[in-house]
Amino acid sequence: EKGNYRHFMQKEIFEQPTVVAQTLSSYLRQSDNSVALPQFDFDISSIRRVTIVACGTSYYAGMVAKYWFEQFARVPVDIDVASEFRYREPVLEDNGLSLFISQSGETADTLAALRHCKEQGQTIAAVVNVPTSSMAREADLLLPTHAGPEIGVASTKAFTCQLAVLAALAAHMAVTKGLMNREEEQEVVEHLLEAPACLNAALDHDDDIASMAHLIAPARDVLYLGRGPDFPMALEGALKLKEISYIHAEGYASGEMKHGPIALIDDEVPVIVLAPSGPLFEKTVSNMEEVRARGGQIVLISDAEGLEEAGEGCMATIEMPKVHPLIAPLVYAVPVQLLAYHVACVKGTDVDQPRNLAKSVTVE
Ligand code: M6R
Repeated sequence: EKGNYRHFMQKEIFEQPTVVAQTLSSYLRQSDNSVALPQFDFDISSIRRVTIVACGTSYYAGMVAKYWFEQFARVPVDIDVASEFRYREPVLEDNGLSLFISQSGETADTLAALRHCKEQGQTIAAVVNVPTSSMAREADLLLPTHAGPEIGVASTKAFTCQLAVLAALAAHMAVTKGLMNREEEQEVVEHLLEAPACLNAALDHDDDIASMAHLIAPARDVLYLGRGPDFPMALEGALKLKEISYIHAEGYASGEMKHGPIALIDDEVPVIVLAPSGPLFEKTVSNMEEVRARGGQIVLISDAEGLEEAGEGCMATIEMPKVHPLIAPLVYAVPVQLLAYHVACVKGTDVDQPRNLAKSVTVE
């Protein structure tokens, strides 16, 4: 079933252009570039607060979505990891939407949080990859990802499909609330529809990433930095690396470096910087300079423009296509997945079945 691939994870990384396109096609109408979500039996424009609950990689998809819901639909978003959510006595507003994100639809903590919110009278939406799962059955509004079965324990294609669904949902909410006019909607849809081609362009750098993996493999610690919606991508990069290569890695918001973690920097701690060119670029570059001044070895992931401006002096660079900021988190998922994958291959770890981990975490 792995076809020409060595591992399921590798196969699933490469499936992303296809499955993201598949997922987008069930939430966007290409004929007139509009958002086309399933019919809801509640008024989404009256939602006053969105509460997102998930674990692991699905939680990072939720973190990215928070930027989108707030930016497009101007709706406040709370987000928690499921294992913390129920125990902090969350205040749930009347007319709130609780949104659960899960590949498996069976993660124990997320499912328990869903049931708790249901009991509290919240409207329940679930972004789930397994259509027969408990979460899919128990949600008021099921928003399936069409990633197909994900076998590798490290989540890859389910994650980018979650992002695709969440972007469409945020845009839909904005349109319904009258905050996004027809022209803006068309533009957003056009950008989302560019994602599969951009994912392909990112995958074209597989060989470059494979050949630099030996630079990261000997490290004991690795830091990932990103800003805005690319900050959760830094967290995701670090999680992928930890999970399958067993290298200690942390993701930080670029601006947080000087509040502590910069003390870790020396020439043995590679720092992976995710920084598409754009309004936040300069700020990230100055954080990068602070790292470099302390001997930090940088891997810069950016587009041609960004690499031209700041690529010099880096230990390595990975070139991404120039993309609209909306789809940057989807596209930048690819290099962090591939980097973790190739580092794990260099180290010879069990990529698809990392030690101590299960695909579906059905105990709390
Ligand atoms: O099935 P779920 O999306 O609810 O799973 C959540 C996490 O267990 C999962 O994302 C985990 O962090 C992955 N192994 C990450 O690659």
